[in-house]
Amino acid sequence: MPPSFKFLALAVILLCPVTFNLSADAADVSYDGRALKIDGQRRIIISGSIHYPRSTPEMWPSLIKKAKEGGLNAIETYVFWNAHEPLYRQYDFSGNLDLLRFLKVIQDEGLYAILRIGPYVCAEWNYGGFPVWLKSIPNMTFRTENDAFMYQMKNFTTLIVDKVKGANLFASEGGPIILAQIENEYGNVIGSYGNEGKSYINWCANFAETLNIGVPWIMCQESDAPPSMINTCNGWYCDQFSPNRNIPKMWTENWSGWYKNWGGKDPHRTAEDLAFAVGRFFQYGGTLQNYYMYHGGTNFGRTAGGPYITTSYDYDAPLNEYGIQNQPKWGHLKKLHDLIMSMEKILTYGKATNKDYGRMMSSTVFEYNGTRVCFLGNANNRDAITIDFEGKSYTTPAWSVSILPDCVNVVYNTAKVNTQKSVVVKKLPVEAAPKRHYDLEWRWRAEHFEHLKTSVEKSGPMKGVTYANQLLDQKLVTNDTSDYLWYMTSVDINEDDPIWGEEVSVRVQCDCHILHAFFNGKHIGSKWVTNGQYNFVFERSAKLKRGMNSLSLLSVTVGLQNYGAHFDKMNNGILGPVKLVAPNSLEKDLTSNKWAYKVGLNGLERRLQEVDTKYKRNWQPNVPFDRMFVWYKTTFKTPKGEDPVVLDLWGLGKGTAWVNGHDIGRYWPSFLADDNGCVSSCDYRGAYTGSKCLTNCGKSSQRWYHVPRSFLNDEDNTLVLFEELGGNPTFISVQTVTVQSASAHAYEGNTLELSCHGRLISHVNFASFGNGTYGSLEKGSCNSRNSLSVVKQACIGKESCAIDASEQTFGRSRCDSPMKSLAVEVQC
Ligand code: GAL
Repeated sequence: MPPSFKFLALAVILLCPVTFNLSADAADVSYDGRALKIDGQRRIIISGSIHYPRSTPEMWPSLIKKAKEGGLNAIETYVFWNAHEPLYRQYDFSGNLDLLRFLKVIQDEGLYAILRIGPYVCAEWNYGGFPVWLKSIPNMTFRTENDAFMYQMKNFTTLIVDKVKGANLFASEGGPIILAQIENEYGNVIGSYGNEGKSYINWCANFAETLNIGVPWIMCQESDAPPSMINTCNGWYCDQFSPNRNIPKMWTENWSGWYKNWGGKDPHRTAEDLAFAVGRFFQYGGTLQNYYMYHGGTNFGRTAGGPYITTSYDYDAPLNEYGIQNQPKWGHLKKLHDLIMSMEKILTYGKATNKDYGRMMSSTVFEYNGTRVCFLGNANNRDAITIDFEGKSYTTPAWSVSILPDCVNVVYNTAKVNTQKSVVVKKLPVEAAPKRHYDLEWRWRAEHFEHLKTSVEKSGPMKGVTYANQLLDQKLVTNDTSDYLWYMTSVDINEDDPIWGEEVSVRVQCDCHILHAFFNGKHIGSKWVTNGQYNFVFERSAKLKRGMNSLSLLSVTVGLQNYGAHFDKMNNGILGPVKLVAPNSLEKDLTSNKWAYKVGLNGLERRLQEVDTKYKRNWQPNVPFDRMFVWYKTTFKTPKGEDPVVLDLWGLGKGTAWVNGHDIGRYWPSFLADDNGCVSSCDYRGAYTGSKCLTNCGKSSQRWYHVPRSFLNDEDNTLVLFEELGGNPTFISVQTVTVQSASAHAYEGNTLELSCHGRLISHVNFASFGNGTYGSLEKGSCNSRNSLSVVKQACIGKESCAIDASEQTFGRSRCDSPMKSLAVEVQC
């Protein structure tokens, strides 16, 4: 370099060292027909979804570390428009919405990032990620060639891209982001939008291109994706997917389990089946796959979509809701990832030769520069299949893939789980024992109903109330700032009115999720959706009086629709008709009455959920049980240690909980999952769907509610509840989530590994090296006498231990059986 350039370079380093350093790290991301290329090299990407708002900044480093330890080299997230721009042009990137900080944590761990901006995201997120104000813009139609929509989409997407670019977070600037996504699964709905849908998707592609992010764009589930976009697959299996042109085979959403609705059961996707799907995908030439979710987390506040998605978004993902390894899933996949990554060169550059053996059995040989790796895939959902492969006989269990990195020895089979199982429990913190409850002292106050008896016709304007001579869509009135909206009207009835009589019935055609009805100030009934039918007729009898009668209807939303063509057109609240019906069938239609609208709860207006509210005083002792619309309050001590904290809200009806003012989300423990459709053991074989392998029938669909430790104070905390249906708060306890025990097995010649995931091994419950049955914790007819002492010596007091299953370690077992194994269970 000539001296003058040296001087210039030095000046650049001194003046703007960041830019200089980053451009030195800038990576060139491109792709060919086979794989994504980073700096010219084809790469395998094994990624996992972690959505930043579903955990806290304090949790991000450990989640991402665990993802990396689990063998991932990338993290994916959506961007949540309605969280960032809840009100028009008012932005929020604070706390768990600090997208840039999240991306930097990924970068600090040395992982790649995939940024799915959408900005429609679905994701079981409220309104699919769209802010509700968007709907109120004149001439607005979502997700189609509509100027108003495209303008707003462009505005938000550009804002995100500029922010990310400003922080140099695209790989082209030295950052971790190697791919970005525009739209989401538009191919699933494009048919419903006609030609305008087609123009819209082209517009999306052209617009994305103009943003010059320097890394490729993807569109998932969009077989019509324009040529500048990579179209990718979403689903439980994507091995048979082929992209719409000569581009890499990528899988953006490998559903690691499934989500849960209120009233739903717990979904489980087995480690064997998930690994099988991944094994098949790489066998058939896939080069990028992303677990949706790797960590599902929690829908805090009002972020859950649906309607009726639970607060827990555990997803049966490899990391559970609280960030603890979900074993054996996490570990079984880790082994698979390590193996796949070790074959990266051959899988991305090798020539693949497939052979079909019938009955869903196949082999694939990848060959590159004289080196080979092989896959034996058996998609038969019943039978193990034995084949002769290159002169040797191999039996591949049903619904599994064997991987032979040298094409001779099977080192991994997706159906053979050699990873520990962990038992994770929720329990009272040690310092609370032996008390049954956490001895919480409760106080309460009633929700104050201001306008229940007010005559809308006669009274003058009321504070905070708006009026219309029609029934309005709830979300448009509340702008989705609250779940609660009062619809109030009054009706003058005299004795000569044809419907006059003491009894009438109030009939409401409702697009509500929950409706509470009051007539002349008295609660006459409540109704909510129980089996996915999001509109219903509410009908209850009420007592008329002469003169003015008031009708107050409290409609409650439980998450706005997030999926489907024109999902935004789904009504919310009371759109009518609303009628009074006399026993003689004569009706009085109130639909076009003057209606008064009041958003939210009185208690929320008074900020009862906050710690420092000026209405601190009016909380009473002697709490009532099973009473609707009450506020409860208590304080509790922070459990000692590091284990995640949950509230066991068993005993409550439905409502919202706040800890130290943080909205931990909607609760509804009284909503039970129905009794049918659960299994006691799960057959991993055969195609998974969200209704396979369910547990928790007949029990509360969600009983425990995560309180991230960063929401807690060092000592005392305030818990406030708004209870809408009635319940008993004295059953509530504060608990911790703990890995209680871990168990594993290993055949002779292998190493058995156990970990308490951050805790210490305190006790060995069981140890046997002998001929016990593989997979059970029972001694066989023979076993090494040293079994227990050897394992104790190796494991007690440690966070993890590894023991060779061999006679060398355990001494003679005196077993004749050729197949010996080691089985251990430890207490954490
Ligand atoms: C997909 C969607 C995701 C998520 C998933 C189910 O269709 O793209 O955002 O909703 O389904 O969990």
